[in-house]
Amino acid sequence: SGFFACSATETKTRPVAQNRSKEVTILYGSQTGNSQGLAKKAGKALEEKGYQVHIEAMNDFKANQLKKVRNLLIIISTHGEGDPPDNAVLFHEYLHGKRAPKLDGLSYSVLALGDSSYEYFCQVGKEFDKRLEELGGVRLYPRFDCDVDFEEPASEWLEGVIHSLEEQEGMAEEVQHSLPLQEQAVSSYSRSHPYQAEVLENINLNGRGSEKETRHLELSLAGSGLTYQPGDSLGIFPKNDPALVAELIEELKWSPEESVPIQKQGDRVSLREALTSYYEITVLTKPLLQKVVELTQNEALATLLSNEKDWKAYLKGRDLLDLVRDVGCWGDTAEEFVSILRKIPPRLYSIASSVKAYPAEVHLTVGTVRYTDHERERKGVCSCYLAERLELGEKVSVFVQENDNFRLPKDPQVPIIMIGPGTGVAPYRAFLQEREELGYDGKAWLFFGDQHFMTDFLYQTEWNQWLRNGILTRLTVAFSRDQEEKVYVQHRMLEESKEIFSWLEEGAVVYICGDEKKMAKDVHQALIEIIAQEGAYSREEAEAYLADMQKQRRYQRDVY
Ligand code: 2AM
Repeated sequence: SGFFACSATETKTRPVAQNRSKEVTILYGSQTGNSQGLAKKAGKALEEKGYQVHIEAMNDFKANQLKKVRNLLIIISTHGEGDPPDNAVLFHEYLHGKRAPKLDGLSYSVLALGDSSYEYFCQVGKEFDKRLEELGGVRLYPRFDCDVDFEEPASEWLEGVIHSLEEQEGMAEEVQHSLPLQEQAVSSYSRSHPYQAEVLENINLNGRGSEKETRHLELSLAGSGLTYQPGDSLGIFPKNDPALVAELIEELKWSPEESVPIQKQGDRVSLREALTSYYEITVLTKPLLQKVVELTQNEALATLLSNEKDWKAYLKGRDLLDLVRDVGCWGDTAEEFVSILRKIPPRLYSIASSVKAYPAEVHLTVGTVRYTDHERERKGVCSCYLAERLELGEKVSVFVQENDNFRLPKDPQVPIIMIGPGTGVAPYRAFLQEREELGYDGKAWLFFGDQHFMTDFLYQTEWNQWLRNGILTRLTVAFSRDQEEKVYVQHRMLEESKEIFSWLEEGAVVYICGDEKKMAKDVHQALIEIIAQEGAYSREEAEAYLADMQKQRRYQRDVY
């Protein structure tokens, strides 16, 4: 399957389908599930308007169908250095290559997701938007570039798209649901209606003397109707550190009790509450600096912005308090001050439990982030909220984020190889709980790594239990700081290369979870090396082997 099924000889004539104008194809590319969730919601809204909707992850879409599409919506995120999500890589490559078809008669619109604190903001969305036009498509509605607080612009985009579709087909009617992205079901909680989950357990998994603090959280979903599958993530809306908020307010000229809006239209809360629970104060972005210059005419900041190297260096490791201390506070009112801030985005954590093993509960494994930068202690917003301020019995705002990119094989006999150093081990606890509950006995191999055996062997007793009862076949560990030389999971994998390759040949699914920038890249290279060496392949052939595994969903990543 997949679009490589594309044939070179396509008929020139469009097949005549009835009422094709009422057909919409939605293609998404999603790493963490945001685009996938938005695609599903858009599909639902369009179906309610009487459209026939076809939704697919880009890599599952048969490219020879592309010429037959009349209305195309693309919902796509950008990662790292302007990279497409895993499930969009092949389609992105195909569309930008020589074999891409002419797309005359295509109406399309792109919803781009990204993070403006990164250089290549919404890059992949921009590329699709441009390329579809080059291929002959016509923009049905302009592209929207969404920042991390994507809900409002995404709703606006969808409203605009629906309106344009209706106009295009000469059947414009009043758009009746003014906010199509809002959930209709009252009993079901979601990102836009998070559930208040009670904290049942909150402990540090690391032993005394460890350099790390990894929290194990257990939250109650009782009565919420929420459920999830292994591989899904839990979204958490954090609150900013009250000490940091207090320091910031001291630098401002307004009273913390002054009321400010927290949405375009709607509720108002105190400045203190707004800076605690609604607005992001820990990240600076270039668009934010630009808006501050507009409001303050600050010359030093304007000069800084004119030099790419300078503003990039400035943004790194600084927060809103640094900026206010450097340039003074901006705006004539507190309302104007907050108007240029982003909303605090929820953080996604890979779920560490199976609901079959722990009904109405969800468990998380969260690494606490603390470091010093520019002579001040900095704290990870969500991890420190969970570690320092969330007592048992308190409630936290959560939602379930589906992630179809990280799934156990349906066939219980298919072997699985799970690679997850540090908190990357979280989803494998869910996997093994699930397999145990289902009575599955396929082979399973876990590669875990962390700094020290004595203090950082997360969930050690549970893995040992699963080794004893056969749910886990093999456990290979890499403790990086117990000896002179650094030892990482990929080093252990290379030592086991023969055995790993034989599992691959048996059809094993390989999972990688954890750090994207270094670990996932290094493990990827190790896999290529293993395949090349043990299969006697060239490097190119080994890469193709892995790409093919990815197409068959036998190589899945949940990286961050
Ligand atoms: P280190 O911090 O001692 O360098 C979980 O954080 C584990 O992942 C730690 O043991 C950490 O080692 C290790 N780690 C760091 N960089 C890595 C990389 N590029 N590949 C694999 N593991 C890595």
